[in-house]
Amino acid sequence: MTIGIGLLGLGTVGAGVADILANPEGRHPLVAELALRRVAVRNLDRPRAVPVAPELLTTNPEVVVDDPAVDIVVEVLGGLEPARTLILRAIAAGKPVVTANKAVIARHGEEIAAAAAAAGVYVLLEAAVGGGIPIIEPLKQSLGANRIERVSGIINGTTNYILSRMAAEGADYGAVLADAQLLGYAEADPAADVQGADAADKIAILTGLAYGGSVPREAIPTEGIDQLDARDVAYADKLGFVVKLLAISQRIDSQPDSEPGTLAGTAQQPGSQLLDVRVHPTLLPRSHPLAGVNGVFNAILVEGDPVGQVMFYGPGAGAGPTASAVVADILNIAGIREATNPSGSAKGPVGLDPLLAAGSWRQCHLIDGARTTHRNYVRLRTSDEAGVIGRIGTCFGEAGVSIQSIVQFEAESEAAEIVVITHEVLEAHFRQALEAIAALPEVQGVAACLRTL
Ligand code: HSE
Repeated sequence: MTIGIGLLGLGTVGAGVADILANPEGRHPLVAELALRRVAVRNLDRPRAVPVAPELLTTNPEVVVDDPAVDIVVEVLGGLEPARTLILRAIAAGKPVVTANKAVIARHGEEIAAAAAAAGVYVLLEAAVGGGIPIIEPLKQSLGANRIERVSGIINGTTNYILSRMAAEGADYGAVLADAQLLGYAEADPAADVQGADAADKIAILTGLAYGGSVPREAIPTEGIDQLDARDVAYADKLGFVVKLLAISQRIDSQPDSEPGTLAGTAQQPGSQLLDVRVHPTLLPRSHPLAGVNGVFNAILVEGDPVGQVMFYGPGAGAGPTASAVVADILNIAGIREATNPSGSAKGPVGLDPLLAAGSWRQCHLIDGARTTHRNYVRLRTSDEAGVIGRIGTCFGEAGVSIQSIVQFEAESEAAEIVVITHEVLEAHFRQALEAIAALPEVQGVAACLRTL
């Protein structure tokens, strides 16, 4: 049975998909049954990396979705619109959808899942997070029995490339970014990558799958690497840490009180799940499983009960790896069609992905930032005189913040740089200490503040 594929987009990922479909030799036999029937492009005349018959091309993406010869719609346009509308249009027509679009799923995932549930069609999205790394299906299926405690990942290749080079070369963020753009590792407009939005989209999706309920994408606290100073990467190295842009989604079973001195647990609403979800540069001890992930590679560490730690590592972007994930989703749908309808036509509903059914999701809430607990790295610029470290220590102590280490580094002129690593402390206590420290006459400024694992 031939299965008709409609491709929305023929950019990097779309071309990778077309290439796999055009070269089925040596792959799963089902690949040979996938036929590219229609392809939506922006510009008909643009030269293409892969040969696609010109009669398949159209500039009207609705033509692709509506074509009766298209059984599965593959959305690799990126961006919110028209991607969202086209996905919903395909679902309404009873056509399963495969998408690599993290932005649309992170913001409209529930709407899309509800529409898919109502129409009884699959929407698969393995390529939306981690490129070629299988993480969506493992979270949905293979790890489904676990109580997930934490998902943490390096899920943006551009920033990991920049951070890896900053660490290896002692180079400034701006210089490495400019070079990465020249070499094609960073986009001409790198904002979504370097400011953390891309990683926040991806952790929003992983959160939904890990905890069975979505969190509002715009509420995820997000800090990128664009303000990161090379000095902090160098000091972290001296102290035994590497700096990575981490996306973290963590179960919180009871919420500590934010008032200094009182740490009583706060009850949650029954059935709901409290989560701490965030994206920020993070100091990782060199022994941490994610610390050795360098260059454009991605990795996701899933910690669950009873499985323990499971880590997924691989290429997080690029035509081949992302197309590998897209075509795997197409094959899943094609395989189910064959199993449920071995001799009939390829049309009609193919069944619902039960774990994406919106009706079965629980309510998830983000914890108030002041009530989260972290280890912290803070760099202070101070005058170099007797008693300064003591006064800083007193401010931390009075706020209930326990210090793990405090080190003075040489700085230019009469100033000193003091780096403090705290034990895990309540964010509200840490902020209170920083306020008191910033007000000390010997302290010229809080130069950097980073989270530490
Ligand atoms: N821009 C992303 C990254 C790849 O740098 O990892 C697509 O998700």
